[in-house]
Amino acid sequence: LVGGPLAGKRVLVTSGPTHEPIDPVRYIANRSSGAQGTAIAKALRALGAEVVFVTGPADAAPPEDVEVKRVETAQEMLAAVEAALPVDAAVFAAAVADWRVASASDSKMKKQPGEKGGLPVLEFAENPDILARVSQMNEGRPALVIGFAAETDDVIDNATAKRKRKGCDWILANDVSHATGIMGGAHNAVTLIDSEGAQSWPRMTKAEVASRLAERIAQTLG
Ligand code: C5P
Repeated sequence: LVGGPLAGKRVLVTSGPTHEPIDPVRYIANRSSGAQGTAIAKALRALGAEVVFVTGPADAAPPEDVEVKRVETAQEMLAAVEAALPVDAAVFAAAVADWRVASASDSKMKKQPGEKGGLPVLEFAENPDILARVSQMNEGRPALVIGFAAETDDVIDNATAKRKRKGCDWILANDVSHATGIMGGAHNAVTLIDSEGAQSWPRMTKAEVASRLAERIAQTLG
C-alpha cells in the first residue's frame, strides 16, 4: 500500500486492556475488547500511515499490515510505547489498569486453612500514566497526542478536565455506562474535545469513528 494522505507518517496506537498479575495464574483486568483501538489502527493504515500497534491481551485480532507489539501489563505497554517513538501522532485507546498488585507472588497463592484470617490482602501500586507521560515529553513529543476518556458521569466536563490534566491535544470522550452497551459493542458515541471546545459525533460504528478520526488526523498532520 503506497500513497494516501498519511503516507510517510508514523502513528502509534495503544489498544486493549492490560493484565496485572496477582500470581502466576491470576490477574486483574478490565472489560476492554480492543475493538475501537483495532479499528483506529486499521483506518490509519488505510490512509497510508505506518502504524505501530501496541496491544494488551484483547479479543479483537490485530489489523493486517501493521507492526504489532503484544504486551500484558501497563509497565510493558509503557516500555513498548517508548521503544516505538518517535512518531508523528499517537492514539491512546488502551484501557490501561490504573493499579497493579504491588508485589505479585512468584508462586500460586494458596487457600489458607482456618475460618478467619485466611483471606489474602492485595496491596496496590500506581501504574505509570502512559498518555500523560507522552503528552508531557519535553523532547520528541508527537505532533498530535490523542487520548480517550471512558466516563460514566458528567462525560464532557470530566473529559475536558482530563485533557488539561494529561496535556494531550484531543480527547475522545465516551459514555461507558452499562446501559450504553459501548464496551464490547460495535457502536460508539463520542465527543471530541480539543483546545477549541467539544464536538459531539452522532452514534456510529466503531469503524466509522475510526475513519472519521483518521481523516481528522490526516488533515491536522497534512
Ligand atoms: O485516566 P484515564 O484512565 O481515564 O485516562 C484514559 C486515557 O489515558 C486513555 O487514552 C488511556 O489509554 C490513557 N491511559 C494511559 N495510561 C494509563 C491510564 C490511562 O495511557 N495508566
